[in-house]
Amino acid sequence: MAAEAKHFKYVILGGGVAAGYAAREFGNQGVKPGELAIISKEPVAPYERPALSKGYLFPQNAARLPGFHTCVGSGGDRLLPEWYADKGIQLILSTEIVKADLASKTLTSAAGATFTYDTLLIATGSSVIKLTDFGVQGAESNNILYLRDIADADKLVAAMQAKKDGKAVVVGGGYIGLELSAALKINNFDVTMVYPEPWCMPRLFTAGIAHFYEGYYANKGIKIVKGTVASGFDADANGDVTAVKLKDGRVLEADIVIVGVGGRPLTGLFKGQVDEEKGGLKTDAFFETSVAGVYAIGDVAAFPMKLYNEQRRVEHVDHARKSAEQAVRAIKAKESGESVPEYDYLPYFYSRSFDVAWQFYGDNVGDDVLFGDNDPASAKPKFGSYWVKDGKVVGVFLEGGSAEENQAIARVARAQPPVADVEALKKAGLEFAAKV
Ligand code: FDA
Ligand code: NAD
Repeated sequence: MAAEAKHFKYVILGGGVAAGYAAREFGNQGVKPGELAIISKEPVAPYERPALSKGYLFPQNAARLPGFHTCVGSGGDRLLPEWYADKGIQLILSTEIVKADLASKTLTSAAGATFTYDTLLIATGSSVIKLTDFGVQGAESNNILYLRDIADADKLVAAMQAKKDGKAVVVGGGYIGLELSAALKINNFDVTMVYPEPWCMPRLFTAGIAHFYEGYYANKGIKIVKGTVASGFDADANGDVTAVKLKDGRVLEADIVIVGVGGRPLTGLFKGQVDEEKGGLKTDAFFETSVAGVYAIGDVAAFPMKLYNEQRRVEHVDHARKSAEQAVRAIKAKESGESVPEYDYLPYFYSRSFDVAWQFYGDNVGDDVLFGDNDPASAKPKFGSYWVKDGKVVGVFLEGGSAEENQAIARVARAQPPVADVEALKKAGLEFAAKV
């Protein structure tokens, strides 16, 4: 039997956050039945990935599909598979593309099916870095888990049930490390975090910010081991992990190990076919790559960050959503001989765990100025940090902010107000943001 061959005017490769928001924008702009396909190796329609490390892992009333399909994460409509069917948008699921030939505009799946397109949107996101990638001894043992997609989350839920009230070791002190340690603790695991740096989330947190979260986690009963890495694992006769061996010689008992040591943008299919930068696919302000008619959105795009006059890549959901919308608007405008304004993105990251929640806007460069009460034992912690560069505030972090306060810090990061006196800024704290 000949392998399947199909043609679409538009193909979105990848079925994650950016794909869902791109599909919605195609719907808004007008797309004819049969013009658009989403090809995804996942078995489900696009969903809000952040739910996987939060609501999906709650011990009670856990989030499950179809509850968190895009675009509910930003207050929009929930696009169920029926929505795609109604619009004549094809969801080609459980289909991994293993070859992309941009010259002939052809994608080939693992099963040998081919898909041709006029316009391609690459939305393949990131893959997780695995300890087996570095040949860490014993890293292939059972119950050493990662978290990127629904299948990973289901494995984690099953392991939590199988190893009820057991011991968990979390390797990595970044986003996954912090969010998953909390989730495991809420599920009554005895949790130990291990990371090499002097404090958690060093990509964003200053020592003053990390002081709060490390203390808060310790107060919740989470043990933290810093300055070392996992160098090997022990397993029992069934191949189930039993212990994590640390480089400094210590050994931690473990029934479950969660690893969050970073991600890598999935750009391998396009090697040598398109310009790259910052580990991603280089795009213009409309997310078009160096190949005409080929766009890159979400985690894989290295785009011009107008505000900082620099090409950057962002691995967060707000940018995945907005880059998708920008690309689709640009594609549709071009077709009618019009244009859209350049992408002008203000970086926005957030996280939440237990009862704490923070937001960050802007750039964490220059001198940091901590303000507010960062005592981990506070009944109502509220503190933050400004980053000041060349006499201007360029970034703001806030824990425990109200909706208005978070809007205020976003305004500050966008406006970059001048600061003459850093001591006065520290003293004014959130008052400074309220006045901008
Ligand atoms: P995304 O990863 O969403 O989608 C990529 C899709 O492409 C997947 O469906 C994948 O299977 C598919 N794919 C890849 N290669 C393929 C191939 N060859 N063939 C077919 N399909 C292929 N951010 C934030 O700001 N706040 C938060 O709280 C969180 N929380 C969070 C939790 C967890 C567990 C993760 C893993 C990530 C977050 N993030 C986050 C990050 C955020 O989710 C991320 O930046 C976006 O999902 C990126 O959207 P993309 O569409 O680019 O990739
Ligand atoms: P990350 O880059 O945030 O953190 C990686 C951490 O791994 C580092 O901080 C470091 O502590 C640690 N590390 C590196 N090598 C190590 C080693 N050998 N042993 C122990 N620790 C080591 O990456 P992540 O937490 O894995 O997250 C993966 C992706 O998911 C990222 O793109 C992230 O942005 C995204 N994500 C975002 C959110 C959010 O925005 N709230 C939540 C979850 C995931």
